[in-house]
Amino acid sequence: MSISTHHPADISRLVRVALGPRSYDIHIGAGLIDSAGTLMKPLLTRPKTVIVCDEVVAGLPLARLRAALVASGIETAEIILPPGEQSKDFATLERLCDDLLAAGIERNDLIIAFGGGVIGDLAGFAAAVLRRGVGFVQVPTTLLAQVDSSVGGKTAINSKRGKNLIGAFHQPATVICDSALLDTLPDRQLRAGYAEVVKYGLISDRDFFDWLETNRAALFAGDPAARRHAIAVSCEAKAAIVAADEREAGVRALLNLGHTFGHAFEAATQYDGRVLHGEAVALGMAMAFRLSTALGLCATTVPERVATHLKAAGLPAHIRDLANDWPDAGNLVKIMGQDKKVVAGRLTLVLARGIGDAFLTRDVAEADLL
Ligand code: GLY
Repeated sequence: MSISTHHPADISRLVRVALGPRSYDIHIGAGLIDSAGTLMKPLLTRPKTVIVCDEVVAGLPLARLRAALVASGIETAEIILPPGEQSKDFATLERLCDDLLAAGIERNDLIIAFGGGVIGDLAGFAAAVLRRGVGFVQVPTTLLAQVDSSVGGKTAINSKRGKNLIGAFHQPATVICDSALLDTLPDRQLRAGYAEVVKYGLISDRDFFDWLETNRAALFAGDPAARRHAIAVSCEAKAAIVAADEREAGVRALLNLGHTFGHAFEAATQYDGRVLHGEAVALGMAMAFRLSTALGLCATTVPERVATHLKAAGLPAHIRDLANDWPDAGNLVKIMGQDKKVVAGRLTLVLARGIGDAFLTRDVAEADLL
């Protein structure tokens, strides 16, 4: 990691994702979309891009991004899609690919995914398959996308049979995280993204978890330095894991802490927005720590410390925190078994020996899960 000064009004941070010929930089700082042209220009063989975004950012943020590109002499067009998870389907992908081809996008041009996780996944997947692979840039606008989904090259759309089942690994050419875009993010979205920030502390960085306990309030109050630090540490953690295991043959699965439990709650609500992904992950992480303690792997005080932090951030840590008519435990466990990380019928779970000490296991008996 190194410090650079792309934006005069702020210090930005640079995190490198080391993947040989597919290596790239993540730029983090307040106001960075105004430098998007400068950051992208060296990556282009001709000055042509298409921005893919949804209606949520189609106002002022899009106008600023467009102005930054134009100021660097980069031609750009825009494709604006309906917001929400339902856009991650074949029909929208087909329309998007047609529109990108109509815009004259070639392999060496850049598609800019400007939005949250849905836009990143969808535009990234279009980039992966269009002309057998076009370059793309992630400009994430939500906390969740800035700390997780925009980094690491997972792209996908949903199948009727499950979320993200049709996809590809396709790394972006760069990621530009403008932390000031979070100033207008709805509170609930900010909290949900924060669950993924906490996740990095819980997986492998006890000091970061301590830092979050002290700095959570500043981060939520919009302190630029706190936000930049939290995003940078999260991206560094993710970059290290992705560099070690790009295609999730092993250690990358640690990033699924809380996700297998969480998946049951998202799937039980048909991903209809009643439970946001980050909320499900928060609850799932609290459950993973409780299970770890129940199995004698983790000290008894730890799950309470985790739950207290999540609840202080307005996130669920117990099933009762998410009001819904949930299926019973047996059916929730059945839904967990449909998780795409199942190998030979066995669930891979992420459990922990303590804060910052998570590990993978396929040895949890169904009775213990229940
Ligand atoms: N969001 C988990 C991963 O990128 O592997």
